[in-house]
Amino acid sequence: MKALILVGGFGTRLRPLTLSVPKPLVDFANKPMILHQIEALRDVGVTEVVLAINYQPEVMLNFLKDFEAKLGIKITCSQETEPLGTAGPLALARDKLIDGSGEPFFVLNSDVISEYPFDELIKFHKSHGGEATIMVTKVDEPSKYGVVVMEEETGKVDRFVEKPKIFVGNKINAGIYLLNPSVLDRIELRPTSIEKEVFPQIAADKELFAMVLPGFWMDVGQPKDYITGLRLYLNSLRKRSPSKLASGAHIVGNVLVHETAVIGEGCLIGPDVAIGPGCVVESGVRLSRCTVMRGARVKKHSCISSSIIGWHSTVGQWARVENMTILGEDVHVCDEIYSNGGVVLPHKEIKSSILKPEIVM
Ligand code: GDD
Ligand code: MG
Repeated sequence: MKALILVGGFGTRLRPLTLSVPKPLVDFANKPMILHQIEALRDVGVTEVVLAINYQPEVMLNFLKDFEAKLGIKITCSQETEPLGTAGPLALARDKLIDGSGEPFFVLNSDVISEYPFDELIKFHKSHGGEATIMVTKVDEPSKYGVVVMEEETGKVDRFVEKPKIFVGNKINAGIYLLNPSVLDRIELRPTSIEKEVFPQIAADKELFAMVLPGFWMDVGQPKDYITGLRLYLNSLRKRSPSKLASGAHIVGNVLVHETAVIGEGCLIGPDVAIGPGCVVESGVRLSRCTVMRGARVKKHSCISSSIIGWHSTVGQWARVENMTILGEDVHVCDEIYSNGGVVLPHKEIKSSILKPEIVM
């Protein structure tokens, strides 16, 4: 089977992290977001993943080349010369997706995190015999997503409304699809939205089915959702493979510590923390609801909560970093500084406190 991951877009809502790498390469729970997806696809027998890209393809491919061999999966690129939206890239990659077997292929948005129940998706798709299956999940605020109205028993979709202005329902498109090759005959090679132009048409033909996604789901393309997503992910990891989580007197709740990270004496860490490869957390540090990315150093007696510390950044001793502070790559927060929601661009040094949420350029 094959899969296409929609990797376009500039990831502006995840700046400053996306100033350093494309959104799918931003680390989530200690590895680039897209690797979570590629590994799950490989586990259900996908042999080739096509990345639909509209900028910086070299960066993505250079990075993923290493993983091709490690994961034993072919990773190729389909590059747009102009952004083709969420459907146009499927038309562009048509020849890569059709291999004559008649098998359906996966399509994923690159910023969604879940347990990726692809096996269940394949089973459901085969059982209903329609052209396309999308996964849906319930949310409290459906207006920022694509909303699906479906028959409860059969899963047949009556309506698909992208970003509705009035309330239509609370089941939303999770950005995970399994499509028959015939769907490609419905898509032209031009900028097109699969949500606004293709799904409503397939639904009108009674060929679109939806399956409620078991387990958690989050679009982690914005800082607040990223931090919530990490909590949900770690919670699910606790149920699936608890041995991957850290334990000990200094750990509270669910905490993921990379095997190459070093943690000092007398720290208190958790809940909902990810500490990446090569990080150094010095003694007496307090961390909760935060991500510390590869190569970062958190100095003595500092306190970080509800924040993201970008790659190779440093937080000085006695510093206090909180309230959705996002440090880009290689940021240095000096000793005893307070950051209340500072969003700091890469390579900056912070010498005075940030008292209210603001962008530091
Ligand atoms: N190749 C390519 N070209 N990819 C693109 C382009 C493009 O021109 N535009 C967007 N994408 C990719 C994004 O990188 C992302 O992986 C995916 O398409 C969806 O785009 P987003 O910008 O993240 O859309 P959204 O979050 O507002 O809404 C989408 O996701 C929701 C779930 O998170 C829709 O699919 C909604 O229906 C859905 O509910
Ligand atoms: Mg999104």
